[in-house]
Amino acid sequence: MSIRILATSSLVGPYIEHLGLRFPELCVTPFRSPEWTAGLASAEALVVLLSEPLTEEDLERCPNLKVIGTYSVGINHLPVAYCRQRGIRIVNTPGVLTDATADLALTLLLSLTRRVSEGEALVRSGQWKGWATDLLLGTGLSGKTCGILGSGPIGRAFARRAWAIGMTVFFWDREGNQPPVDFGVEIAERLPLDELLPQSDVLSLHCPLTDTTRGLLGRERLALLPRGAFLINTARGGIFDEQAAMDLLDEGRLGGIGLDVFDNEPTLNPGWLAAPRTVLLPHLGSATVETREAMSRLLCLGIEESLRTVGRAASREA
Ligand code: DGY
Repeated sequence: MSIRILATSSLVGPYIEHLGLRFPELCVTPFRSPEWTAGLASAEALVVLLSEPLTEEDLERCPNLKVIGTYSVGINHLPVAYCRQRGIRIVNTPGVLTDATADLALTLLLSLTRRVSEGEALVRSGQWKGWATDLLLGTGLSGKTCGILGSGPIGRAFARRAWAIGMTVFFWDREGNQPPVDFGVEIAERLPLDELLPQSDVLSLHCPLTDTTRGLLGRERLALLPRGAFLINTARGGIFDEQAAMDLLDEGRLGGIGLDVFDNEPTLNPGWLAAPRTVLLPHLGSATVETREAMSRLLCLGIEESLRTVGRAASREA
C-alpha cells in the first residue's frame, strides 16, 4: 500500500490515530528516516514539527503533494513561496496556542523581574539564611512601559496581560500605518519601531520570523532600549542579534533576557549558559496538554479537509 499521509510524529492526543482510521495509507515514521524519504514519492500530505525544516528539494521528490501540515503556528521552517507556486496548501495551528504562549511570555517576564530562578536555587542549595531586607530584590512592573513587536493574536494576548499587571503598552507591527488593531481593551498605541524602543522598559517579541523580521533588532536598535530594560522572546530566534543582546546584558545596559526560542535551537550560543540575569526555556510556548491536543485536532482536521477537497476537485475535473 503506498503512503498517502506521511507524518513524523503521532502528536499529542488521539487525532493522528483517528486520521489513520479515515486514511489507512498513513505512516508515522521519524523525519528523514529511510522510510520517510521513500514515502515522499507517493505522499499527498506531510505532517511535520517546527523543528523539521522542509526544503524545496524534499518537495520536489513529492510529485503528488497536496498539503503540508505543521504542528505549530510558525511556518518559517517551510518553503512557503515554493508551496504557493506549486499550489501546495499549508495547514498550521493558529488561534489555539495564543493563551499558552502569552502565558509563557508573562512567566518569563515575572521570573526574570522577580528573580525566581535565583530564589529557588538559593532555597535548594540549603544556603538560605532567612528573610532579609535586601534579599534578591527584583524590579516592579506596575507603572512601567511594555513594547510589543507584533499585533497578531499572541501579541494582543500578551498586551492584555501586561496591561493587567499595570503596564502601559505600545506596539509596533510590520504593517506600518494601518487601521487600528483591536486589543480587546483600550490599551495599546501603535508606534514606529525607533520610537517604541527607547520607551520600552520591557520589550516582548510576538512577530513571526520572515524576511522582514529576520535581524530586525541589531546592535543599534537594541541599544535604543532604556537602561535596565528586559527583553522577552517567545516568537522565534533570529529576530534579534543574540551576541549584541548578550553584550548589552554584560555591560549592564539590559536588565535581563527571557528566552523560549533561540537561533539554531536546540544548539545554543554557549554565551547564554554563562549569561547572568537570564531565564532560558526549551521552546515551551505551546506546551500544555490542552493546547497540544487542540493543535493536533486542528491540524488533523485541516489535513483531512484538504485531502477531501482536493479529491473532490480532482473527480469534478475528470
Ligand atoms: C509555534 O507553534 O510556532 C510556537 O513556536 C510554539 O511555541
